[in-house]
Amino acid sequence: MLVTGKEILDHAHKNGYAVGAFNVNNMEIVQAIIAAAEQEKSPVILQTSEGAIKYAGADYLSAMVTLAARKASVPVALHLDHGTSFNTIMTCIRNGWTSVMIDGSHHPLEENIKVTADVVRIAHAAGVSVEAELGRLSGVEDNISVEEKDAIFTNPDEAVVFVKETGVDYLAIAIGTAHGKYSGVPKLDFDRLTEIKKRLDMPIVLHGASGIGEEDLKKSVRLGINKINIDTDIRQAFADAVRDVIVNKPEEFDPRKICGPAREAMKAVVVEKMRIFGCAGKA
Ligand code: G3H
Ligand code: 13P
Ligand code: ZN
Repeated sequence: MLVTGKEILDHAHKNGYAVGAFNVNNMEIVQAIIAAAEQEKSPVILQTSEGAIKYAGADYLSAMVTLAARKASVPVALHLDHGTSFNTIMTCIRNGWTSVMIDGSHHPLEENIKVTADVVRIAHAAGVSVEAELGRLSGVEDNISVEEKDAIFTNPDEAVVFVKETGVDYLAIAIGTAHGKYSGVPKLDFDRLTEIKKRLDMPIVLHGASGIGEEDLKKSVRLGINKINIDTDIRQAFADAVRDVIVNKPEEFDPRKICGPAREAMKAVVVEKMRIFGCAGKA
């Protein structure tokens, strides 16, 4: 069933687990994630970036995900990931998305508050939940100074002001993760997460979670993360499986025999994440 992001994430916040938010760009990815969610009896969030919308079209993505959600026995939300333009946000609201992210994290605090509050007003009027981001999501070196870290990571005092002024439903924070593949070993600021969660009685979001080890993910969930974004790990599984067919069966040219194994490989990644995040069995 198709539900709002808030419905899924408020339950996760109250019950101390995290829900996976997986990026989708095509039918095989949608089917892999939904199959995993059904098998694991897990709520799930399917999210589309602005790039995904440009690639596949808002109408196609909406049709695929809402069909999948209607057929599914578990709660499914369709979320806009890193929305930056008002146009994209309006397109999503009009096309059946049940959750949108307005990413104003590159703006100074006041401007981030302003653009986020505008989106909250409109989205809430349409019954759509809103995620926003505070802090810069860039991996940091081990030897970075405390001052430098404070300038990049989410400031707990600012987070309280930000949530109060915007009325946002869930907040993405920066505590040391980065998008894409990690070159070194990421070091997460768990004290900062603890402090933020202590001050904010709401779902908290972790971006850039591909490549983060199982123990760190479980600890993040214990300390209050409720939505975990995964894209790169699924892309990698897709590419590895496709490459395997192309390299080992060079005579193969049936798209179903090339993309079918990739769909299975992506499902396995999602199942593994759901078990780590604690959302398996929560639907
Ligand atoms: O956080 C970004 C996601 O991985 C989406 O990436 O903009 O290439 O679709 P994309
Ligand atoms: P990864 O690609 O690092 O998993 O990040 C995904 C993400 O944060 C999407 O918003
Ligand atoms: Zn992200």
